[in-house]
Amino acid sequence: MKTTLTLAKADIGSIGGHIRPSRRLLDAVARQIKRRKAGLISDFYMSHTGDDIAVLLVHKKGKNARAIHKFIWDVFVAASREAHKQGLYGAGQDLLKDAFSGNVKGLGPGVCELEFDERPNEPFLAFAADKTDPGAFNLPLYLAFADPMYNSGLMLSPSMFKGFRFTIMDVSHVGADRVIELDAPEEIYDIAALLRDNQRFVVESVASRGTGEQCVAVSTTRLHNIAGKYTGKDDPVMLVRVQGTFPATGEVLQPFGIGHFVAGFMRGSHVGPLMPVRINSAISWFDGPPVVSCLAFCVHRGKLTEPADAFDHPFWDHVRDNVSHKAMAMREQGFSGCAMLPYQELEYGGIVEKMEALDRRFRIRKEKSAKTRK
Ligand code: 13P
Ligand code: 13P
Ligand code: MG
Ligand code: MG
Repeated sequence: MKTTLTLAKADIGSIGGHIRPSRRLLDAVARQIKRRKAGLISDFYMSHTGDDIAVLLVHKKGKNARAIHKFIWDVFVAASREAHKQGLYGAGQDLLKDAFSGNVKGLGPGVCELEFDERPNEPFLAFAADKTDPGAFNLPLYLAFADPMYNSGLMLSPSMFKGFRFTIMDVSHVGADRVIELDAPEEIYDIAALLRDNQRFVVESVASRGTGEQCVAVSTTRLHNIAGKYTGKDDPVMLVRVQGTFPATGEVLQPFGIGHFVAGFMRGSHVGPLMPVRINSAISWFDGPPVVSCLAFCVHRGKLTEPADAFDHPFWDHVRDNVSHKAMAMREQGFSGCAMLPYQELEYGGIVEKMEALDRRFRIRKEKSAKTRK
């Protein structure tokens, strides 16, 4: 029977602004999981990245299983009562609907899932990012799965010679999912043409073309489309199976050394470099910079090993310093130009009202005729 990994995240409240959840809130989530898990899941792991709590579940119920999604919803809703009780900032922030309706996608929490026959050893990575959106994973996934400059296995490992299939979602489409499948290496220019636009086109999944097996799943929720207004950024989670017919762990991690610029940061309205951080890190400067964490696990017969914190290594201190420099360089120019997102992507409705009011004050200057000018 296949094993399913479900990685769900929600911001249900945090201390001192959008910084991190309280100890009591984390305990409440763990308590709710333990209280409800019997007969449903074989193992779980809970962590936080900035103000988002991520829950990794192992089970046999497959992807989009109603019972699992209801479990996630019930855990977050019940735990959010603790957030309200404690007076946390943004208590229940990502719980956008009043009632569960079949699948937790579309209700606020972000979810991604992988279902597979366990290999004799099954290593995988669980990523979580805060103060950014799912498009932040576009570049790292392109480089790890389509570029031999980053993934030497594409040249060296025969099991990867056939390349990978990308499923890309148009997240600006409201309603049913709008997706396209493109194959690397033949269609890498087409993949690049879409993935350069991180706000509109987002990698939803990647599969090996050699075996057909899925190895990447990304949460692609757009909170703005659900709530109709800004309620927080779509801080994403991602699962990646590694080694064997898939890229090695280090090949998947390498692109995160770039600290590429992504959308998010303060008020979800800016551009900042993505900083790889240790698990359970808080947020600080200018509600950022945008951060990503990565836990490496093996799963065996439905049980997880303890996690290895992939960004907890001296190498990443150097990357973090570099990202800090990039962040400060960008912040020096404040609101100007590329430091902020384009108008259509600004998450605050206030700017729309402001621009409409200013628009009414513009006037077309009357050209003086040649005659009067004389
Ligand atoms: P091992 O030979 O230690 O399994 O490593 C192979 C590999 O993937 C290194 O990147
Ligand atoms: P979160 O999406 O992480 O809650 O952050 C919201 C925000 O506005 C930060 O400035
Ligand atoms: Mg928040
Ligand atoms: Mg967040």
